[in-house]
Amino acid sequence: MAGATTQWTSRFAFLMAAIGSAVGLGNLWRFPFQTGQNGGAAFVIVYLLCVLFVAFPILMAELSVGRHKGLSAVGSTRQLALDSGKSANWSMVGWIGVLASFAILTTYSVVAGQVMAYSLMSFMGEFAGQAVNSAPQVASLYDGATHALTWHTVFIVASVAVVSAGLHGGIERVVTVLMPIFFVMLVGLSIYALSTGAAAKAISYLFAPDFSAITPLTVLAAMGQAFFSLGVGAAVMITYGSFLPKEENIGNSAGIIAGADTMVAVVAGLMIFPIIFANGLDPAAGGGLIFDALPAVFSGLPGGSFIGGLFFFLAFIAALTSAISLLLTASAVGIEQFGLSRTASAAIFGALAWTVGAATIVVTGLGNWVDFVGGSILLTTGGLLIAVFVGWIVPGKIMRDELHNTSDGLFNFWHFTVRYLAPVAVGMTLILGIDAKFNFGLSAMLGSIGGG
Ligand code: TRP
Repeated sequence: MAGATTQWTSRFAFLMAAIGSAVGLGNLWRFPFQTGQNGGAAFVIVYLLCVLFVAFPILMAELSVGRHKGLSAVGSTRQLALDSGKSANWSMVGWIGVLASFAILTTYSVVAGQVMAYSLMSFMGEFAGQAVNSAPQVASLYDGATHALTWHTVFIVASVAVVSAGLHGGIERVVTVLMPIFFVMLVGLSIYALSTGAAAKAISYLFAPDFSAITPLTVLAAMGQAFFSLGVGAAVMITYGSFLPKEENIGNSAGIIAGADTMVAVVAGLMIFPIIFANGLDPAAGGGLIFDALPAVFSGLPGGSFIGGLFFFLAFIAALTSAISLLLTASAVGIEQFGLSRTASAAIFGALAWTVGAATIVVTGLGNWVDFVGGSILLTTGGLLIAVFVGWIVPGKIMRDELHNTSDGLFNFWHFTVRYLAPVAVGMTLILGIDAKFNFGLSAMLGSIGGG
């Protein structure tokens, strides 16, 4: 029952932790390549709508559910169901979320490991003198499975170390130091990129939408990105909410978290696309976009090895402060439901996540499946269930009490969204996602109806 007594030391600590969880590889790595693959500004607009009307309300829902009794994701959903006179089996909502955050952690760590390696390699000048537009000749620290495994291991060990040191001694310490550093570096790097790269082209690419480019698949990608980037649907924000005091204004905090996360994604775009366009690279290159393009580009600029090293270090900070929230979510359940010690729980879930992540490095194609199951199926199912849970299962009166210092206007918007808008939108996303993966042809059919 650790959650019931432990609380954040301050509002600042909570906000740094929650923003740290939201801001991650989702903003710096995933957002740019998703934008590039889904047509630029049209994707950005749909993404912003998904954040405002679906992900932000779910963020408020998760924080409230966690704070209600201050338990882990599983304990919180069970207790809130019981307090609502409903079946304890609603803890299923928590379990699915935990499974999602665990699944996401496994491959997240692999990418984060690569980010760590690239930071070091860049600082050491290993990318210097490479031709732009060629994948970097793979340098000494990152050539093949052994190195990927090593860096994945380093990253998981770091995450376990932070989480096992506890909320105050580990997580708060790390986020209150690293997040301010992150923001200073982000501002510096984006000024650098905008002043040296093709700024005008990047700005119109990101902000001048071609609405005819919007298809069901754009919406699917945007919704997935909104969940991933805000970090909702995986019970992480239930866990962070469990340490909140009753007087915290959840609507207000959720607004700050969602706003900061969105801002970082846009700034990351403004940092990366000027460089991409100035060098004639393909924005639709996919998941390798920042890894292939940026080192080569930085290597041609004065001081580029250092700037490149900083960029990847920035991404590493963002990744670490996200991964610890993912790991904490599972380990809080381990402590509460399985009676494990804090260290044992962090180590066991860390080791399990390491194993699955390692398997995705070695087995070709497995990573895509883990991403599909974790990032598409479990994450959206978790979001759908949490919306249905707070919208339909828990009485409105209980939710109003939990969101007691939220204005009537925001509460009504929120309640309408979690009852109607989010279940319909997320439910459709889920169906579309499965369809797109298995090629049943539904999205193509919708696309032709829509004239796209
Ligand atoms: N939001 C983080 C990112 O953008 C990753 C993350 C943290 C996450 N917690 C999550 C993703 C919960 C999905 C669900 O990188």
